[in-house]
Amino acid sequence: MNKYVIQGGTPLSGTVTISGAKNAAVAILPAALLVNGTCRIENVPNISDVCLLVEILRDMGAKISYLNANTLDIDCTHVRDVESSDELVRRIRASYYLIGAQLGRFGHARVALPGGCNFGARPIDQHIKGFEALGATVDLNNGFVCAYAPENGLRGGRVNLDVVSVGATMNIMIGAVLAEGTTIIENAAKEPHIVDLANFLNAMGAKVSGAGTDHIKVRGVRALRGGSYSIIPDQIEAGTYMVAVAAVGGNVLVRNVIPKHMDCISAKLREMGAKVTEYDDAIRVQRTGLLRRANVKTMPYPGFPTDMQPQIAVCMALASGVSFIRESIYDTRFGYCAELNRMGASIKVETKTAVISGVAKLQGCAVRACDLRAGAAMVIAGLAAEGETVVEDVEYIERGYEDIIHKISGMGGSIRRMETAAELSIPAAV
Ligand code: EPU
Repeated sequence: MNKYVIQGGTPLSGTVTISGAKNAAVAILPAALLVNGTCRIENVPNISDVCLLVEILRDMGAKISYLNANTLDIDCTHVRDVESSDELVRRIRASYYLIGAQLGRFGHARVALPGGCNFGARPIDQHIKGFEALGATVDLNNGFVCAYAPENGLRGGRVNLDVVSVGATMNIMIGAVLAEGTTIIENAAKEPHIVDLANFLNAMGAKVSGAGTDHIKVRGVRALRGGSYSIIPDQIEAGTYMVAVAAVGGNVLVRNVIPKHMDCISAKLREMGAKVTEYDDAIRVQRTGLLRRANVKTMPYPGFPTDMQPQIAVCMALASGVSFIRESIYDTRFGYCAELNRMGASIKVETKTAVISGVAKLQGCAVRACDLRAGAAMVIAGLAAEGETVVEDVEYIERGYEDIIHKISGMGGSIRRMETAAELSIPAAV
């Protein structure tokens, strides 16, 4: 397991450039299975979740070449109707998009139940409800999802989601683009990556409308053709660096963002005492004075994202007064609080609420990244703390943050990566 070693206490300054959105990329790559021809996809984040999906698609016969670290040509014209590697599929949550993509492409799918961060039960019943609305038969057998289209193929249908689900909304869209007739998704999720997937599919010839509202219409087409597409900037990566500046202090221009996507986070940081200035495609965050307490309730977009909850908790841990976080998307997403408490924070978790009493400072120590965003919170806490923090299990962080070491160093933060293998190879006594 690799580690980050952080020396805290230096205000952040300069600029940081945001990469393409992880949660858009991990849907768009599997969706390329539906396309006859080459998709050129730009602004693909260079993160381990994307590398795994590239490996899965290559295993199926996709021709994938990197034009540079962030631009991919994917040609799935001659993919084989074979099962994706279970071992790879289980390592990422987003592998559930292979169900919609394989079902649309081959008329059947058999995919291992997805992995991903552990926030309690993460069912996929709404995905299944959607595929069934398209006429598919779906079984869960020994850890696999098996889905079969009827003999004459999937046909459009109407699905009313019982919970607002990002994954189900995107998976049903993917399954529906080549179905005969029109599909309606009601109570659809509205996250920016849903609009991005719709835009990608439309750029390849699909007919998706209403993405970004709770009513999405997909008119089935016979085939998708190749084309070019550039992925939107990552809302959560941008939010993470904005929160880092607020927690640590300093003045940073966060570049390559869509400020509208950041509204909820910008508003919360202003409420807590940071100065946030929006430009066309950048946001400046400045914080010199004390942070004020605030409350957050996580909500589907455009509400405060659950994926920003651990990071904002670090600001709250250092704010004056008592702050509350109510997690309303997942059963458990407060595992990181025990780690922050080891650094001197004062957080009590009562089922789905964290009660955070602000302290004057955090103290560096050894902590774990318990999941992707929890790991990002540990990095922010380390940058804000006095002394040295060692963050372990950073593989979680690297699933979703491109080049985090260079980006933080570029803002003047002191952080370095230690590879355990290199560490072990150092002779014991020299
Ligand atoms: N849910 C169901 N049934 C379903 C699907 C979801 O009950 O069939 C519930 C979930 O248990 C949860 C809620 O609905 O309580 C929302 O889950 P959603 O389906 O929206 O989440 P997801 O698709 O599994 C994606 C992101 C997560 C992000 C959530 C919420 C990807 C690959 N993952 O997960 O991202 O937290 O949406 O915005 O897109 C992250 O990036 O760190 C991350 C965890």
